Amino acid sequence: MHVVEFETTASDGTARAGTATTANGSYTTPLFMPVGTRGAIKYLSADDYDALGAQIVLGNTYHLMMRPGADTVAHFGGLAKFAGWSGLTLTDSGGFQVFSLEPDVDDEGVTFASTYDGTKHRFTPEKAVETQQLLGADIQMVLDVCPPLPSPPEVIRLALERTNAWAKRARDHHTRPDQALFGIVQGGVSEVMRAESAERTAALEFDGYGIGGLSVGETRDEMIPALAAAIEHLPTNRPRYLMGVGDPASIVEAVNLGVDQFDCVMQTRLGRHGTALTSEGRVNLKRQEFALSDEPIDVSCTCSVCARHSRGYIRHLFKVGEPTASRLVSLHNVAWTLRLLEQMRAAIIDGTFQDLRRDVLAVWG
Ligand code: GUN
Ligand code: ZN
Repeated sequence: MHVVEFETTASDGTARAGTATTANGSYTTPLFMPVGTRGAIKYLSADDYDALGAQIVLGNTYHLMMRPGADTVAHFGGLAKFAGWSGLTLTDSGGFQVFSLEPDVDDEGVTFASTYDGTKHRFTPEKAVETQQLLGADIQMVLDVCPPLPSPPEVIRLALERTNAWAKRARDHHTRPDQALFGIVQGGVSEVMRAESAERTAALEFDGYGIGGLSVGETRDEMIPALAAAIEHLPTNRPRYLMGVGDPASIVEAVNLGVDQFDCVMQTRLGRHGTALTSEGRVNLKRQEFALSDEPIDVSCTCSVCARHSRGYIRHLFKVGEPTASRLVSLHNVAWTLRLLEQMRAAIIDGTFQDLRRDVLAVWG
């Protein structure tokens, strides 16, 4: 059964604006989804998600199964209720985190040591589905194998094969009718393997499709053809989600190819450390030159932080180590990115997407 339906509202070339409908509500695309790895976007709370107009917030299966445990999240009614969030949620399978822990991988699954207490854990496609059913997000992702780039072709091939075999097992194990399940395309930067992976994943008929294994060491010029090759073999009536990619230039290029949704920790990671995304590029707010600046972070930004605070004030908060400094720039960066995607949606609907794309690439390309 398909939970997510995707309807294209407007298209401009291969870029598309649409609406995806889940069992608990719909979301408009293209869409940026901020990341709340362990149940909160760092320095923010559910009140903020409302004010930001976030539609989907991510959680991470690996972190939530370690602490507080999937049963505990289920006890509270699932991730959204636990976090006091009335919007939609998506959980990543945890594969991406687990594979960064140098695990033992075999055809059946993956064994790894917890970063929390060193204990050994076994993760399989079935366990990932069961855990995510307990976490109860509106969308869950299959367990996949994401190799770093560059990797030898045989490593990319094995990851593709395992990801595909695991996707079938995940699909056959998934039972929650109110929760969507997305497959994940792998294949490195090989257009041939990307096309094959997309075709074989699409044949399993998921509710939507993640495109993983990108922004893991390759250049944008390597990423784009691989992404295009994947998209060509994905159905038009399902959402496409480029995983872990959030820099403005990559987003606008991916939207141009027909990607619908994105997540990235960059917005909050940069924000915590004082770097803002602005209409003129990245700005490090800790710099001495901003000590007396009464300008907002970005004069063209409509966010609550830019409406109220100066660069000089925020610089001061960083200099004295006030946690609010990180909060304010995180809020701005997430708001700024959400708005960028809203502008892309509006431009697709107006038929002016190529103008916006040119403007974004002029600053960020
Ligand atoms: N987040 C960023 N890239 C990936 C990926 O390849 N797989 C998964 N599961 N999550 C990701
Ligand atoms: Zn702002």
